[in-house]
Amino acid sequence: HGHGGASSRPRPGEKKGFVEEMRFVAMKLHTREQAPKEGEAKPPPESKPMMQWEPTREKYLAYLVESKAMYEAMEEIVASKASPIYEAFLDTGLERTSPLAKDIEWFEKTYGLTAPVADGPGVEYGNFLKELAKTSPPEFICHFYNVYFAHSAGGRMIGRKVSEMILNGKELEFYKWEESRGGLEQSLADVKSKLNDAAEGWSREEKDRCLEETSKSFQMSGQLLRLIA
Ligand code: HEM
Repeated sequence: HGHGGASSRPRPGEKKGFVEEMRFVAMKLHTREQAPKEGEAKPPPESKPMMQWEPTREKYLAYLVESKAMYEAMEEIVASKASPIYEAFLDTGLERTSPLAKDIEWFEKTYGLTAPVADGPGVEYGNFLKELAKTSPPEFICHFYNVYFAHSAGGRMIGRKVSEMILNGKELEFYKWEESRGGLEQSLADVKSKLNDAAEGWSREEKDRCLEETSKSFQMSGQLLRLIA
């Protein structure tokens, strides 16, 4: 007995390591417009197709400000000792708080705008993460993976497109990673291997709870992205 039940069925991606499991779940939650090859999700009713986005500098600045609030929370959590597994994710090279601070300053100087005070979806997401990180490390790790890896993939595409529309093609610091640490590809590979190591210590039930958190991550990051639309 004990064979053939839900708990013993192999999960997609399982053989390649836990990151591949998380990736599989995440890719399916994209819409077809976002990820034509793997996306399967219906777009949420409150979202606008990217084709119809009408970004402005004001909206984009608000997005950067809210994103910074969220990344600050993420980086604070990793630096906390809320769980012993977080320490491995300190100083990965993926951190986005200081690049965002530079971009916000650049926006203010270049366009004469005043950055709004963060009080929206980025703060909401950050507060949510701080609570979650104390009680549920596997669920927190799901958000950590999705936020940083989404930014390196779809986030970069969006950055390029929006910059062409409203910033004369200027590449923001938010979309640059330090070459001194091997650049984005090396940081992603290092973090992937650390994520796989962390998940080695989890039961199947903890892994599943982590995977199930993916939709929440899409929902909360989606609210952030909608600031641009
Ligand atoms: C990967 C697009 C939003 C999580 C990708 C890929 C694309 C994409 C094109 C690359 C697939 C590949 O070639 O391997 C988009 C677009 C988005 C969006 C256009 C919004 C407009 C999100 C959100 C999340 C997310 C909200 C989760 C919070 C991920 C993850 C990957 C990914 C985890 C895998 C990255 C990797 O394999 O390293 N996305 N995405 N994406 N996306 Fe998104």
